[in-house]
Amino acid sequence: MALERTLSIIKPDAVKKNVVGEILARFEKAGLKVVAARMAQLSRAEAEGFYAVHKERPFFKALVDFMISGPVMIQVLEGEGAILKNRDLMGATNPKEAAPGTIRADFAESIDANAVHGSDAPETAAVEIAYFFRTTEVVSH
Ligand code: PPS
Repeated sequence: MALERTLSIIKPDAVKKNVVGEILARFEKAGLKVVAARMAQLSRAEAEGFYAVHKERPFFKALVDFMISGPVMIQVLEGEGAILKNRDLMGATNPKEAAPGTIRADFAESIDANAVHGSDAPETAAVEIAYFFRTTEVVSH
């Protein structure tokens, strides 16, 4: 399996619940390393830019409103097969369909407020990482 990097966001609902550390621990226990991280209060323009691929979808405004409703924690995770591994740890987009023991099953309330974001492919991971971090801010260890 290839060494990959993926962009992960702990969304405002999970930050409000004060479970940032618990979620990061799940990544680390699964063998992923945090190689960049910062807290941020996204502006509307930043959130709209990040989710631009979804701008025609009916939930776009609700998604942007939610993502700017409070601070988020943004990190880059690195490891063997990091993209799929992170998606497996997250669980299904709709927490009602998420497998037991996944982050969304344990910490998310609804499809609108679903605790975490994770890149879905190598191409999107590269774009999403560059959206939030300079090359020098990502430090393998
Ligand atoms: S995926 O996995 O990206 O293909 O999921 P998708 O269903 O395409 O959803 C893309 C992002 O939109 C969010 N989403 C919603 N937000 C608000 N309301 C509704 N109904 C809704 N449906 C989907 C979903 O959480 C995805 O956000 P991210 O941050 O990419 O996980």
